[in-house]
Amino acid sequence: MSFVITTPLYYVNDKPHLGSIYTTLICDAIARYKRLSGEDVIFITGVDEHGLKIQRTASNKGVDPQTHCDDISNVFIKNWNDWDITYNKFVRTTSKIHESIVGEFYNRVKKSDDIYMGVQKGWYCVGCEEFKDNPENSPTHKCPIHQKDLEWKNEENLFFRLSKYQSQIEDLINDPSFIQPKERRNEIINFVSKGLKDFSISRTNLSWGIKVPEIENHTFYVWFDALLGYVSAISKQMNNVSLEESINNGWPADIHLIGKDILRFHAVYWPAMLLSAGMKLPKKVYGHGFLTREGQKMGKSLGNVLDPNILLSKYGKEAVRWYLLKDISLGSDGDFQNKRFVDIINNDLANTIGNLLNRTSSMSRKWFDNKVPNNVELNNDNTLEQYSIETVKNYKKHFNLYELDLAANIILKHAINTNLYLNQKQPWILIKEENNMNLVSNIIYNVLESTRIIGLLLLPLLPDLSSKIDLQLGSLYNKEKSWNEQLKWGKLKSMSILPKPYPIIDKLEYE
Ligand code: MSP
Repeated sequence: MSFVITTPLYYVNDKPHLGSIYTTLICDAIARYKRLSGEDVIFITGVDEHGLKIQRTASNKGVDPQTHCDDISNVFIKNWNDWDITYNKFVRTTSKIHESIVGEFYNRVKKSDDIYMGVQKGWYCVGCEEFKDNPENSPTHKCPIHQKDLEWKNEENLFFRLSKYQSQIEDLINDPSFIQPKERRNEIINFVSKGLKDFSISRTNLSWGIKVPEIENHTFYVWFDALLGYVSAISKQMNNVSLEESINNGWPADIHLIGKDILRFHAVYWPAMLLSAGMKLPKKVYGHGFLTREGQKMGKSLGNVLDPNILLSKYGKEAVRWYLLKDISLGSDGDFQNKRFVDIINNDLANTIGNLLNRTSSMSRKWFDNKVPNNVELNNDNTLEQYSIETVKNYKKHFNLYELDLAANIILKHAINTNLYLNQKQPWILIKEENNMNLVSNIIYNVLESTRIIGLLLLPLLPDLSSKIDLQLGSLYNKEKSWNEQLKWGKLKSMSILPKPYPIIDKLEYE
């Protein structure tokens, strides 16, 4: 059984922004953690390429939609590589495989008698690719998210019988483990309690989409098409693709990680579609919060969009990963503040973790011939050992609940306490007395060992920094042995050589 995790499939109307990097980094950290814990992981990401929004973007650029999609998809792939995203599948909704899965899925839904022709009238937001429920709430008929004019539509569309699944969806969302976090679940419960309405799944006069079989002039609604990307992504076949094969290759997803704005699609429409097709439901839908910049919503018109590539080249991926994963609690909105960013990186990574490694390694090299000292057993001091066992336990508990910020803070607290231990023990004073050698060996060994565990725990969150810590401790990670095994106390080898220390992360300057 594989652990299947997905990011949303990003619209290719533009290159990735900080919001898309954010979701993808969270999924990457979870995927790395699960792999380290011994699970087989299918980490799915990709792009959503059809629909009116993309058609118009391409036409405004004066290129055909496929060329535009190819260009932007390549930018996404390049970005994900630059950020070291360890995805297993990158799905494109313009691929042949996907098209064939959509067709097969549609036939299943049709067989369940869940498709009929009707008339769709309403106010549509092209940015959201969604009909808005209560446009009368907005006298200007603007989308509250995009602040753009809604468009009136009145056309013949195919409809999906969502209303038929009212009680099954109610049961599903009443299970507290399905939608997280809790506040988001309440919004959906409230929405569903008003009664589910059938929704249209085709468009007429929109050429940039997958054609509905046997119905002239209709293409699939972009969301009906895109959600199925999660299923086509796990197909292993290049030819003779079949829905059944994808299902057998790992469906259902264990977690769909998405932004809060697209929760309704994932937690209501998508499960109903799957029920209709006789497929298993995803186990969890996690709606994370939105990122703002210095307290303000980010937007092109505000001119304050943070380009993730500039952050990457200026500060490096480890700094950005740490800030986004450690400082923002998954589910809550988060604010990107330059001063806070610099302070956090300097305090946590350079001063607390970096210095701990640097000073202990320097002492050890100086007093023990460039080596790790002997692990002298002194019965009276197992403070750091006990503390490490607790740390590993709590870290895993939080990671398993997707509380990445709490897991990161546990590591930081461990580093703070290890520094405290060193300051209290003051080996630099003890070393002055010849007969304290065993005691000093014991202290330095304990601190180095504690630092090794900090490095290992950082692996899913900050893979590069973690490797640097490992290098400075003499490259101890043993890929043959499981991560869990290596997290046990006492694996640091006495008498192994300690390379010359260097700062593992550069201190950042304020803008
Ligand atoms: N194409 C659909 C998803 C289809 S999934 C089958 C889509 N794409 S999107 O590119 O517009 O959005 C992708 C994700 O980015 C969404 O989860 C959205 O919530 C997220 N974000 C967009 N702006 C964001 C922030 N400012 N902050 C955090 N996430 C944000 O929707």
